[in-house]
Amino acid sequence: MITRPLAPADTRPQVMKVDLEEVLAQPGRLLSPGRWNKPQVREVTVGDHPVILKDWRTMARWLRPLARHLARREARIYGLLQHLESVPRVLQVGDRTLVLEQVPGRRISRLRGHRAAATAAQALEEIVARIHAAGVYHFDMRKRDNILVTDEGKVYLIDFTTSVAPRHYGPLGWLLRPVAALVDRYAVLKWKNALAPEVLSTSERRLLRGLDRLRPWRKNN
Ligand SMILES: Nc1ncnc2c1ncn2[C@@H]1O[C@H](COP(=O)(O)OP(=O)(O)O)[C@@H](O)[C@H]1O
Ligand SMILES: [Mg+2]
Repeated sequence: MITRPLAPADTRPQVMKVDLEEVLAQPGRLLSPGRWNKPQVREVTVGDHPVILKDWRTMARWLRPLARHLARREARIYGLLQHLESVPRVLQVGDRTLVLEQVPGRRISRLRGHRAAATAAQALEEIVARIHAAGVYHFDMRKRDNILVTDEGKVYLIDFTTSVAPRHYGPLGWLLRPVAALVDRYAVLKWKNALAPEVLSTSERRLLRGLDRLRPWRKNN
């Protein structure tokens, strides 16, 4: 059961844990079929609340240790970000399963040409600064599916499958940090440029052009 105790007006309500058995027992709505190296993702309703189930058990049997590793990794990353408004709450963690709060948003790309685009682009930049401050680098924000925007214009980051928390890698992590930060910065600049190019400063435009040039194999998007 999910209950949503009242929280101060301007903060997001706390979400209580769900019964994992109840979630796993339901077929739900398929959001992503999964692949040999990817979890299946389903939307399941618990009580009256939709929740998201990421299920690595659908990966090949012989890859079970990898599936377990990937599931734990993503749960651990989500765990580092639970104080942030713009990241879904973790409702339950199981063996190769992760249940998340469902964000009622749609992919960010739908805002192209919309009045709210500039605000969303700037919100994204702030969110990324916050996840970095929490020691997490997303690494996969160029995919429009991984940034959701609600009808009220709130921006959420999801899918931390390929994210890294350099603190988990000891001294190597310190070396990784600037590169990881640049990869996320590049994605933010791409989105700012795609959604509201007028919000890019001259130096950001220059950086974006420079980073584009470093990727000669890039698609023209
Ligand atoms: N917390 C969430 N709230 C709403 N939709 C979600 C949530 N998590 C995942 N989804 C949906 O499921 C899709 C797949 O989930 P994701 O975590 O991106 O896994 P992957 O891209 O590895 O398949 C997302 O693109 C999104 O449409
Ligand atoms: Mg994704």
